[in-house]
Amino acid sequence: MSATALILAAGEGTRMYSETPKVAHRVLGVPMIQLVVQTAQEAGCDHIVAITGHRADVVEALIPGVECARQDQQLGTGHAVMCAREALAGASGSLVVLSGDTPLMTSQTISGLIALRESSGSVATLLTAHVPDPAGYGRIVRGRDGQVEAIVEEKDCSPEQRSIREVNTGTYCFDAAVLFAHLDRLTTANAQGEYYLTDIVALFNSEGMTVSAMVTDDPLETLGVNTRVQLAEATKVLQARVNRRHLLAGVTMTDPQLVWISPQVSVGRDVEILPMTFLTGETTVADGVVLGPNTRISDSQIARGAVVDSSVLVSVVVGPDATVGPSAYLRPGTVLEARAKAGTSVEIKNSIVGEGSKVPHLSYIGDATIGRGVNVGAGTITCNYDGVSKHPTVIGDGAFIGSDTMLVAPVTIGEGAITGAGSAITHDVPPGALAIERSEQRAIEGWAARRRATRED
Ligand code: UD1
Ligand code: CA
Repeated sequence: MSATALILAAGEGTRMYSETPKVAHRVLGVPMIQLVVQTAQEAGCDHIVAITGHRADVVEALIPGVECARQDQQLGTGHAVMCAREALAGASGSLVVLSGDTPLMTSQTISGLIALRESSGSVATLLTAHVPDPAGYGRIVRGRDGQVEAIVEEKDCSPEQRSIREVNTGTYCFDAAVLFAHLDRLTTANAQGEYYLTDIVALFNSEGMTVSAMVTDDPLETLGVNTRVQLAEATKVLQARVNRRHLLAGVTMTDPQLVWISPQVSVGRDVEILPMTFLTGETTVADGVVLGPNTRISDSQIARGAVVDSSVLVSVVVGPDATVGPSAYLRPGTVLEARAKAGTSVEIKNSIVGEGSKVPHLSYIGDATIGRGVNVGAGTITCNYDGVSKHPTVIGDGAFIGSDTMLVAPVTIGEGAITGAGSAITHDVPPGALAIERSEQRAIEGWAARRRATRED
């Protein structure tokens, strides 16, 4: 099924009270406009056009690869569609119109809408919903035979129409050619002085063309985000939807309400996710991993069997059976190879920790390449920054770094070498050597007793 999609995203969203345009606000870490574009793609729409206007540059930057047409003045939804005339010139067949502010819409619903229009031979198929409180929505006016006659915006409703609880969700499928052939007949003769896309329904009817409707059985799907209350509601709904998918696919969550996973994150089987865990961006989690509690991971790959406890990971790769935390901060460019460990209160940036190597306690590792089977003692710090530039540290396989070693970069520790605890290492250490840098310890016999004797009490 091939179709075209048009996403209306030119509005400001005044009720968000924000510098950020409405459709750029995030639901579970993803800008709403991206969620809507993905839905259109998943529904098989092979040509997608977005109408942008208010802070168009910000919105367009979020959807590279999507063709955008500008609507400089927001004169209504009908006018917004008119602005796509050039971008959609020659389009025929099904044209799905979506709002950039309905992030919960699913591709199944869009596919269903397209299929219904095509099988019923309608020029337009509307997605409608029965809601307990129709305030703010356009009402669906049906004739005696149940046929959709018109959509009437709330501000234009008669008292009788106002009581209708079937509403327009703002999602439609049109015959593209027929829509564009009639668009110029929309006027601004209405309560808001706007070009209403919704007026096209009565227009089609007046020409004897068939308009059909599909009633959604999940009104949550059509939730339009106009305020931050609705943004929070949408986040809750998407969170539950995503978590349910993972739960049903073999992921354990002790409390799914306290786990936030962006929709694009992939999670394997027999993964356990503990409360207050956030997984966002291009993150993948392989089988058998344990994450959390209190963990934030973005744009990272976590391999099979790894454990991450109470830590923050940004753009990192965690190898199979590696362990992280509690309280580790792994920054961009960190790679933990198989069975490596970044332990308690450890910060690592732009470094490789080789297979089976351990950085168990209280360390800062930056711009380092650590070989296999290395033990980095508690409190070790790579002094990678001299105030002007960053320098690398290289630690060979099997080396043992004593506790509280300062590795003043650039510096290389040879394979199997050992550094003495508390040493400031400023020169390269040959393989197999001991490097120790500290003054001799003295013991002054009887000093403590003499000192105590001077106390005045
Ligand atoms: C619209 C429908 C209403 C429906 C409701 C569902 C019209 C006239 N009314 O009302 O029947 O119940 O959606 O949520 O269509 N936009 C533009 N350019 C414009 C105006 C709007 O791009 O000039 C975009 C907005 O950014 C938004 C979408 O179109 O993404 C809907 O606009 P909005 O002003 O929110 O329409 P509603 O008043 O909610
Ligand atoms: Ca709206």
